[in-house]
Amino acid sequence: MTPNHSCRPNLATPDSVGESKGHNSMMRLDGKVALITGAARGQGASHAKYLAREGARIVAVDILADVEEFYPNATAADMETTVETVRAEGGDILPLQGDVRDSNRMREIVDQSVERFGTIDIVCNNAGTIRIEAIDEMTDHTLDVVVDTCLKGVFNVTRAVVPVMKRQRAGSIVNTASAGAIKAVAYSSHYAAAKGGVILATRSWARELAEWDINVNAVAPGSVYTGMITGLAGQAGEDPLEAFARHSEANLFTGEKGRLDVDDISRAIAFLASDDARTITGQTLVVDAGWAA
Ligand SMILES: NC(=O)c1ccc[n+]([C@@H]2O[C@H](COP(=O)([O-])OP(=O)(O)OC[C@H]3O[C@@H](n4cnc5c(N)ncnc54)[C@H](O)[C@@H]3O)[C@@H](O)[C@H]2O)c1
Repeated sequence: MTPNHSCRPNLATPDSVGESKGHNSMMRLDGKVALITGAARGQGASHAKYLAREGARIVAVDILADVEEFYPNATAADMETTVETVRAEGGDILPLQGDVRDSNRMREIVDQSVERFGTIDIVCNNAGTIRIEAIDEMTDHTLDVVVDTCLKGVFNVTRAVVPVMKRQRAGSIVNTASAGAIKAVAYSSHYAAAKGGVILATRSWARELAEWDINVNAVAPGSVYTGMITGLAGQAGEDPLEAFARHSEANLFTGEKGRLDVDDISRAIAFLASDDARTITGQTLVVDAGWAA
């Protein structure tokens, strides 16, 4: 039977193919301003490159300091590399030092971003940290650092930026959770619980902010080869590449397709931040080569 499409006319013309709602599909974020936390290296640096490539101006935020008992964070030199990468894409970037655990600093950063670029359209709550430790080994310090960075930090940035998005009645918030919040893993329960909290906060904010046409979604990456993996391997005295291979063994895909790259996560972020995802909200996109399926 031939489906009846008569009530859904295809209005595509040669000129409109490849475009949606007047946006060129190659530059989906033209003129937008994107604030990215944890942007000096790893996934955050890659998101900055991808969003700039799509036309966004970037506010890159990172702690740029180490935290006691945790593997090393990004450095000022890492941030300089992010700046150069964004500029090489033809993008504009405002690099700012800031700890997502510090709510006053996050408010200052939102003010500085608005002063420089006029608004904030996109937020990538990407900063995060982890420690491998049993529940009865956690100290007040390590528990606070993980929960305050991975969960409270997402609240701090979001509550600072939402008034700006409400005023313009538009915005897209993309939070970074983890596949480890979908399938449980042992020895980082603070991290799993914090990331699980990010997924529920994402859904809750999607309900709360739809009235202002603000989209709120999350990505949940599987194991990606970044400073997080090399840092953990360093603490455990393991070879980082061997550790990454071991992490990736449980993925459904094998070989090259079974090893996640920062680009895999950035493509998901760019999609969720764009108008291509205009009707998607409250969702968590799991990008994990099938690990948690
Ligand atoms: N790498 C993985 O396997 C993996 C898997 C799932 C989820 N994630 C999540 O992805 C996100 C990005 O991590 P990554 O893999 O790029 O690791 P990464 O360690 O390379 O990057 C994290 C960035 O966050 C910054 N940062 C840490 N604490 C901060 C703070 N308090 N305030 C501001 N910036 C801070 C670091 O300096 C660093 O630049 C994190 O939220 C992480 O939890 C990572």
